[in-house]
Amino acid sequence: MQKLVFLLNAILMTITLSGCAPESPPTTTSPLTSETFELLERGEYLARAANCVACHTPTGAAQYSGGKAIHTPFGVIYSSNLTSDRSNGLGDWSADEFWQALHHGKSRDGSNLYPAFPYASYTLIVRDDSDALFAYLQTIPAVSMDVPDHELRFPFNMPLALSVWRQLFFKPDAFVADSEQTDSWNRGAYLVQGLGHCGECHTPRGVLGNTRSDSTLAGAYVESLGWDALPLATGPLASQDKRELVTLLKTGVNERSQLSGPMAEVVFHSLQYLDDAHLGDMVEYMADLPITPSQLRSSLQLPAAIAKPLANAGETIYGEHCSDCHGAQGQGKPFQYPALAANKGVIAASPNNAIKIVKHGGFGASTAVRPRPYSMPAYAHQLSTAEIAAVVSYLRAAWGNAASAVSPQDVWRD
Ligand code: HEC
Ligand code: HEC
Ligand code: HEC
Repeated sequence: MQKLVFLLNAILMTITLSGCAPESPPTTTSPLTSETFELLERGEYLARAANCVACHTPTGAAQYSGGKAIHTPFGVIYSSNLTSDRSNGLGDWSADEFWQALHHGKSRDGSNLYPAFPYASYTLIVRDDSDALFAYLQTIPAVSMDVPDHELRFPFNMPLALSVWRQLFFKPDAFVADSEQTDSWNRGAYLVQGLGHCGECHTPRGVLGNTRSDSTLAGAYVESLGWDALPLATGPLASQDKRELVTLLKTGVNERSQLSGPMAEVVFHSLQYLDDAHLGDMVEYMADLPITPSQLRSSLQLPAAIAKPLANAGETIYGEHCSDCHGAQGQGKPFQYPALAANKGVIAASPNNAIKIVKHGGFGASTAVRPRPYSMPAYAHQLSTAEIAAVVSYLRAAWGNAASAVSPQDVWRD
């Protein structure tokens, strides 16, 4: 009898185990660092790729001292102190506790962490990369900065709300290399989905702030920033276009484009430090993403009777204020002023980014190759709301661009 029970159990176990086994096993060694990096050098490189510094360093404060306010639709969350300080930082933590934070989104005492810390992406980071990151952070000079309490609105300030959210939307995950794809594609997937947490901005969110798994990297309006993070799918690229995209990620500019706003910051803190080969891996992965219908909010369609005169008025304004830099045909100047003809940001479904940059101006990423990026003047005080609507409508309709016109209401709302 006992034997029978034992046998049944063994069969059940086998069925359960084979039922859950993923097609290929999760990757446990880093897809990135077969190269012979020293541990600390590796940790520093990974911290760059994951852009840990951006959220954990308030402007003007010591690196990694924490306390930076992260604004979310649910309230303000303050980032933690990651220096080697023993009372307020990670000085007394173990590598296991650090892994628990990165992989499971739990603090040292086991309490749940808020997903403003992008552990929903970092959960893909493999254990040996987590250990390298931890070793590196332990070398950051101690700063005993105490972090303010979070300021979340009811009911989001209740521990129960966070635990329900996690039940619904978070499961610790592991990076599984796709054996059908090249090593380069897999490294790119690991960098984009895991370390780079690109989906935290580029993937649309549901009403509870969860990233939507049905539209990974399809482009999204990032409410806390007020910017559209454009779709990352590029479609298949020729090798020349791949090289140009690597240059854009590395330096924030290429012959035709310049990255602005929050994306310029990603280049500034993170991407400019990555090896060209790894940026190439990311591009390889992006070129293979499925192209899906735009998830960006589109602007109201204006009737032609309004759109046409609006764009005509915009042409004059463009000639007076813009063409010196962007060119009479919207062709721009290589590596200085972005082309506006066939510019994905200009013809996106949502005119939001174009309006924003014309109103408030902008400048690109400061990088080793170009410490002083060219900038775009702000026009909010020189042009009226209606004039800005007109000139942006013109950009969206000129030189072969064929996007909808922009009403003064769109401009006013921003
Ligand atoms: C997008 C912003 C953001 C990025 C990027 C980010 N963090 Fe954080 N991190 C936070 C916030 C906000 C918290 C606080 C969460 C909370 O208190 O619930 C946090 C908390 C943590 C904690 C928990 C500390 C504790 O006391 O429980 C650790 C560890 C941590 N981050 C490490 C990292 C590392 C390592 C990286 C890079 C791999 C990183 N973070 C990148 C925003 C970020
Ligand atoms: C903090 C939010 C944020 C994060 C994180 C982020 N992006 Fe972006 N990204 C944006 C915004 C906003 C834009 C639009 C601004 C622009 O086009 O200049 C953008 C634009 C881009 C573009 C230009 C798209 C185009 O068609 O012109 C690329 C490429 C890009 N991001 C790649 C990435 C990659 C790769 C990562 C991860 C390493 C990443 N982004 C992470 C916010 C973000
Ligand atoms: C002094 C040169 C200069 C002038 C004048 C200028 N721009 Fe720009 N513009 C730039 C630069 C540089 C950038 C890139 C800014 C950045 O990266 O944040 C830019 C970016 C833009 C973008 C965003 C492009 C993208 O890739 O997303 C738009 C739209 C734009 N300009 C429209 C205009 C309009 C409309 C005018 C006139 C009202 C104008 N610009 C005048 C230099 C200029």
